[in-house]
Amino acid sequence: MKILMVCLGNICRSPMAEGIMQAKIEKYKLSAEVDSAGFEPFHTGDAPDQRAVKVMKMHGIDISAQRSRLFRKSDFDRFDRIYVMDSGNFNDVKSMAASPDQMKKVDYILNILHPNSNIPVPDPYYGGEEGFEKAHQLLDAAIELVAVELTKGVL
Ligand code: 4NP
Repeated sequence: MKILMVCLGNICRSPMAEGIMQAKIEKYKLSAEVDSAGFEPFHTGDAPDQRAVKVMKMHGIDISAQRSRLFRKSDFDRFDRIYVMDSGNFNDVKSMAASPDQMKKVDYILNILHPNSNIPVPDPYYGGEEGFEKAHQLLDAAIELVAVELTKGVL
């Protein structure tokens, strides 16, 4: 199972989601891979936001080696599941899809907890550190369930 986490800048939410997923892969010894990508080129090649790195470190996960990259059309072929954080990301991914079929791989990450409700993981970029803590809390709960479903073979 190859999973791609997507947000806008690929420096806050999706790097956190990638780090959490990687930790669950190790915790549950899953044969899965995870990567992350974004749509805003301003931070391409950058490490994650310092606040994201700090909050993740407080939760025992080092994401400082990640580098921001843009989503590309080939990601639809390379990944089995593509998780987005909010409706902006969903529409950005949709704008790159060659067919409606490709969108079957795409879902809001919090829909694993709240099916079909399309609840966003709020963008913490313009706020304080508490927004990053909130993002961690939401993502950890959702990704724990992704991992458990993978262990059961139901995802
Ligand atoms: P992210 O947050 O999508 O969670 O990585 C953002 C980071 C940077 C920008 C937007 C969102 N930006 O426009 O620079």
